[in-house]
Amino acid sequence: MTSQVRGAQLARLLGQWHALPGRRRSPDYAALAGAVRGLLADGRLPLGVRLPAERDLAEALRISRTTVTAAYRELRDSGHLASRRGAGSWTMLPGTHRVASNGLWIPLDDRDMLDLGVAALAAPPELLPAARAAAEDLPRYLGGAGYHPIGIIELREAVAQAYVDRGLPTSPDQIMVTNGTQHALDLVLRLALAPGGSVLVESPSYPNALAALSARRARITTHGLAADISGWDADLLLGSLRQVRPRVAYLIPDFQNPTGHLMPAELRERLVATAHAVGTDLVIDESFVDLSLDDTVMPPPTASFDRHSRVVSIGGMSKPFWGGLRIGWIRASAPQVQRLAAARVGVDMASPVLDQLVAVHLMAAAPAIAAARRSQLTAQRDALLGALATRLPEWRITVPRGGVTLWAELDGPISSALARAAEEVGVRLAPGPRFGLDGTLERFLRLPFTLPSADLVEAVGRIAAVRYDLDRAGAPRWHEPSVIA
Ligand SMILES: Cc1ncc(COP(=O)(O)O)c(C=O)c1O
Repeated sequence: MTSQVRGAQLARLLGQWHALPGRRRSPDYAALAGAVRGLLADGRLPLGVRLPAERDLAEALRISRTTVTAAYRELRDSGHLASRRGAGSWTMLPGTHRVASNGLWIPLDDRDMLDLGVAALAAPPELLPAARAAAEDLPRYLGGAGYHPIGIIELREAVAQAYVDRGLPTSPDQIMVTNGTQHALDLVLRLALAPGGSVLVESPSYPNALAALSARRARITTHGLAADISGWDADLLLGSLRQVRPRVAYLIPDFQNPTGHLMPAELRERLVATAHAVGTDLVIDESFVDLSLDDTVMPPPTASFDRHSRVVSIGGMSKPFWGGLRIGWIRASAPQVQRLAAARVGVDMASPVLDQLVAVHLMAAAPAIAAARRSQLTAQRDALLGALATRLPEWRITVPRGGVTLWAELDGPISSALARAAEEVGVRLAPGPRFGLDGTLERFLRLPFTLPSADLVEAVGRIAAVRYDLDRAGAPRWHEPSVIA
């Protein structure tokens, strides 16, 4: 993660900062400060980063230095910036805010906020009975020290069986239990990727995975997904693998986050063959694999085409069951699992036994829970689609056949401005650029359908209202790129 941003970099991140709603009524410095706060809130400008010198930013934005000075002063006053004379100014978390589960900064008191920034469901009713049953099981483990670096055998058996049920022979010693899928990714990257190693990812992709890659200082190549149903372009994807020969490719073939795309079987097979030919390890994130909607038939698991231990699959309980369990897993070869366990001991030792027992009970009830989740998500997705079609008919949407999110193509590069405006009316959004690397994707917005239908309809109504305000705030009249003929 960078510790200093230059003027040109911040200017790129700020994009159309002058196009905020109500912009004509607020002075330039306030609009600039608001835009910087927006970047902080949506995680694109991290905590503790040194902002450019005032003159540097003024030049990059082609505005007066006094405007930048006033904007920085306002950010200091609101607690978003700390300055030391002669040393510069750093971003900071104001005392009125906290870091949310998605890594974003949010106000301490935001109970009325409709949060469309998080793509996860509330716990199912089966959770409490599972927790009680787990407590009954606990005495069986209390005679030992309780450290199980690869996980308790009962859970590894249950996870292995779930792979077998999907047609992929798997033994429990190929499974390692982790504290969630994110932890699984971090561990796999520690082993598979030296600092600065090259990685291929989809664009857009899951922001916290991109953050994990940044933490490894990975050199990232992106494969752009089409917004329409086609998703991956097979020739381009395999061509990139052959050209770049990345050490690792991190992909989400099963209802990709954020697009919801499902990779066809034929491409899975070619992907694994090409990865093996060029020496790339595939890290396949299966977070949403259990959440197919509309009776969509699932292609075989990506790892089922693997003959050379090239594929490491990661997944977990968060999406079909509950994120608060913090239980995930890695499926790899047995020797890889042992190496991962050795690495893990230096990080967090092992996962909590009680939570693993809860997971065992939930997995025993998986078919019923997953069926209920699917019908809940189908109804909520359709409510969201219906509201969007009525209130924002210019937006182009590909109906996802699974997962918990849709990826809307907006009617202009307005995603960040819209997110900032929506926050004002009590809707939190994760704007498109959160899902990319380079500040692009402003034409896109991820919308999860994990809230109840009535909340989704209400949220779309509020978004539509501020979308209209954005237009009335006027199209930006400055910073038009000059045409080079
Ligand atoms: C693709 C993807 N991977 C990993 C995660 C993190 O999951 P967990 O809560 O299991 O760490 C998420 C959560 O949204 C996700 O969408």
